[in-house]
Amino acid sequence: MAKIFFGKIIHTKSLNEFELFTSGFVAVDQKGKIAGVGNESDYCAWLPQHADFKGAHEEHLSEDQFIMPGLVDCHIHAPQVAQIGLGLDMPLLDWLNTYTFPLEAKYTDQKFAAKVYAKVVENTIKAGTTLASYFGTNNKDSTLILAKEALRQGQRALIGKVCSNCNSPDFYVETTETSVADTEEFIAAIRKLNTDRIKPTITPRFALSCTNELMVKLGDIAQKNDLHIQSHISENLSEISSVKQMYNSSYAKAYDNAGLLTPKTVMAHAVHLEDEEISLFRERGTSVAHCPASNTMLSSGFCDVLRLIKNGVKVGLGTDVSGGNSMSIQDAILRALDVSHHLEFVKKQDIIGCGRLTTQDNEYQPLNYKQAIFLATLGGAEALTLSDVTGNFVVGKDFDALVVDTSKYPLQNYATDEATKKSQEQQLLEMVQQFIYVGDDRNIIGVYVAGKQIKKKL
Ligand code: GUN
Ligand code: ZN
Repeated sequence: MAKIFFGKIIHTKSLNEFELFTSGFVAVDQKGKIAGVGNESDYCAWLPQHADFKGAHEEHLSEDQFIMPGLVDCHIHAPQVAQIGLGLDMPLLDWLNTYTFPLEAKYTDQKFAAKVYAKVVENTIKAGTTLASYFGTNNKDSTLILAKEALRQGQRALIGKVCSNCNSPDFYVETTETSVADTEEFIAAIRKLNTDRIKPTITPRFALSCTNELMVKLGDIAQKNDLHIQSHISENLSEISSVKQMYNSSYAKAYDNAGLLTPKTVMAHAVHLEDEEISLFRERGTSVAHCPASNTMLSSGFCDVLRLIKNGVKVGLGTDVSGGNSMSIQDAILRALDVSHHLEFVKKQDIIGCGRLTTQDNEYQPLNYKQAIFLATLGGAEALTLSDVTGNFVVGKDFDALVVDTSKYPLQNYATDEATKKSQEQQLLEMVQQFIYVGDDRNIIGVYVAGKQIKKKL
């Protein structure tokens, strides 16, 4: 049934365009698409042109609530939720060998997979993720269970069977032939689900665990089927030096030579990309999933996302569970802000005894919360080349949205006289700030994908 929401609304149109309606409406048609959005004062002029909406269900938000676009997680490893919070005192390669590969190998057990994946999807939805780009494991059958779970629970998802045929432990490695055959079978199985909400995604784990032969074959499959691609790049210095040795090229060139840098590719991390690699990303239209929690937890380094964006690279946010320790993209917003502030200190602060670092840049402006919201919503949708469908409230896109209630714990609503003297715009912006800086999933009382409520109001 068609539905019209009335109340406070926020969204972004680009990195620096943040739009708000203190008293707005969003009309959602029977197919879950946005048919109208604007100020409530324009609603009376809009309605007569939209006969379908006569008698539509009306939902009036309370004073403490606002609507914002759903959150986009551009990089998350669903199987690793089973070890979230473990081994984060190790650098990447040790963490992979000690914790991650042994855990992922267990997903040959379909019952275990079904149990974990149901929880992963439930909890990411609870945290407001309406679109996620998931890594599964090498096991195609359990990765299909993840796809079915996302479909069942109504989340939009890119899902990849992970591919790795070298530099991996004996208990978790494929032959080139199996990796390719299983990827093809996985794609066919997803197609049988007959939905465009779940997209099979070509997923070489990283250049270090795939031979060039395998990467070229995966690049061909992606091209023939016009598929999304996801992987990791330039996360950790030891990893980068091993990749350079193995491929005798830069990290980005290793992927590009295999046809894996495309406009539908999203690469996680990109912490240490060199200038020429960034130019290559821009030329290919390839995006970056910025994973601030994991870059800090696994001691990978600072990713200067503003450098990427200024050089024409699309960027979204990723939780990178379980290198990252939170399934929430709202948390990733805060972590991205933290990293950006810390980077500012490095660029500007005169560190006693060390002098200034070579990265000195007195003009550097850290990300602000509105820009971080862009990265978490429209930026993510652009990075996953799905911004024609989702990411903000534009007529014709699907209604993927959150209802945020700022009266719920951990936020407090102390309606002071001071507060009521502020403009409506200022009051709404302060609600948004409090949600971003102090709130959590308890404040997300409704989650919608294509107009359908997938997290019930509490
Ligand atoms: N590089 C290769 N595999 C992984 C992984 O599972 N997590 C992270 N953070 N980096 C990787
Ligand atoms: Zn990752």
